[in-house]
Amino acid sequence: PEQKALVKDKIKQKLKEQDAVLVAHYYVERDLQELAEETGGYVSDSLDMARFGNEHPATTLIVAGVRFMGETAKILNPEKRVLMPTLEAECSLDLECPASEFIPFCDQHPERTVVVYSNTSAEVKARADYVVTSSIAVDLITWLDEQGKKILWAPDKHLGRYIQRLTGADMLLWQAACVVHDEFKFRALGEMIEQYPDAGILVHPESPEEIIKLADAVGSTSQLIKAAQTLPHQRFIVATDSGIFYKMQQAAPGKEFIAAPTMGEGATCRSCAHCPWMAMNGLHNLLQVLETGNNEIVVDEEVRVKALRSTQRMLDFAK
Ligand code: 13P
Ligand code: SF4
Repeated sequence: PEQKALVKDKIKQKLKEQDAVLVAHYYVERDLQELAEETGGYVSDSLDMARFGNEHPATTLIVAGVRFMGETAKILNPEKRVLMPTLEAECSLDLECPASEFIPFCDQHPERTVVVYSNTSAEVKARADYVVTSSIAVDLITWLDEQGKKILWAPDKHLGRYIQRLTGADMLLWQAACVVHDEFKFRALGEMIEQYPDAGILVHPESPEEIIKLADAVGSTSQLIKAAQTLPHQRFIVATDSGIFYKMQQAAPGKEFIAAPTMGEGATCRSCAHCPWMAMNGLHNLLQVLETGNNEIVVDEEVRVKALRSTQRMLDFAK
C-alpha cells in the first residue's frame, strides 16, 4: 500500500506539471477511477468521456480505457496530446470490424445511412455518417427511422438487434460481438433470478437478446448506474463488466449488487465478466507514460477529418 501511495503521488505531481487530465472508463481498475476523481479528472461512460475531454482545457488528455476511446479523444481534439497507459488495449468489436472489410460492405449498400458504434477504429468512423454510443443509439436510430432512412449498423450485432426490436427500423447488421458481454448465460441467469426473485436486472445492450429481454433496465454504463439509484429494488443482478461495481456501490450505498453469471449451467461467477483489455490499464503504466511521453495516440489527418464529421454529429445529437 505504501508503494501504491507513492506511485499515486508521483502521478498526481506529473499530471499537474504536464497540464494533463485523466479520463477513465468505469471498467478500469478502482485505483485509476479514484485517481481520476481525486485529480479533477473524470470517470464515465464512453460518450461522456468524449464530451469531457472535448470540453476540458487541459493540453494533454490521458485516457484510461481502450484504444477507440483514445482515438475518439484525438479525433475531436487534434490540438491536444492524447496519451494512454497502454496502446495494446483493443476491443473485440473494433477488431471484428476491420476497415478493409467494412468499407467495401458499405459501398455495396449505398442507399443505407451508415451508423457505427463508437467501439470502432478511426478508419471505420471515417466511412460512417454517424457515430453513436449505447446511451444515444436508440434515440438516434429512432430519429433516422422517422425520416425514412434505411440503416447499415456496425459492429455490435446484439446492440443492433436490440435497437431494431425497439424501433422497428430497417437495419442491416454487421455481425460482431463483445467478448465480455456475449458470455452472459441465459439459463444460469434464470436460476439466479429464482434464487433472488426480488432483484432488479441491469443489462448492458452488448449482451445477447435473451439476456436483454430479462432486464428491468438496459443502457450504457452511466445509465445502468443511474438505474441502480432510481429503481426501487434493494438488490440487483448486473450484466456488464465487473469494473462498474465500484461506482455503482458508491452511487447506491446500501444496495446489493450481484454479478450475472457468465459460465453457463448454474454457475455464479463474481469476477470473470471483466474486459481483458480494460484490465491492461494500471497505475504503473500510467506513471510510465507520464514520465516518458510514450503511447501517444496518432490518427492520420485525412482519416481524422473524415471521422470528425460523424463523431461530431454524435456530440451534437447528444446535446
Ligand atoms: P459505455 O458507452 O456504456 O460505457 O460502453 C462502452 C463499452 O465498451 C462497453 O463494453
Ligand atoms: Fe470492447 Fe467489450 Fe471490452 Fe467494452 S467490454 S471495451 S465492448 S471488448
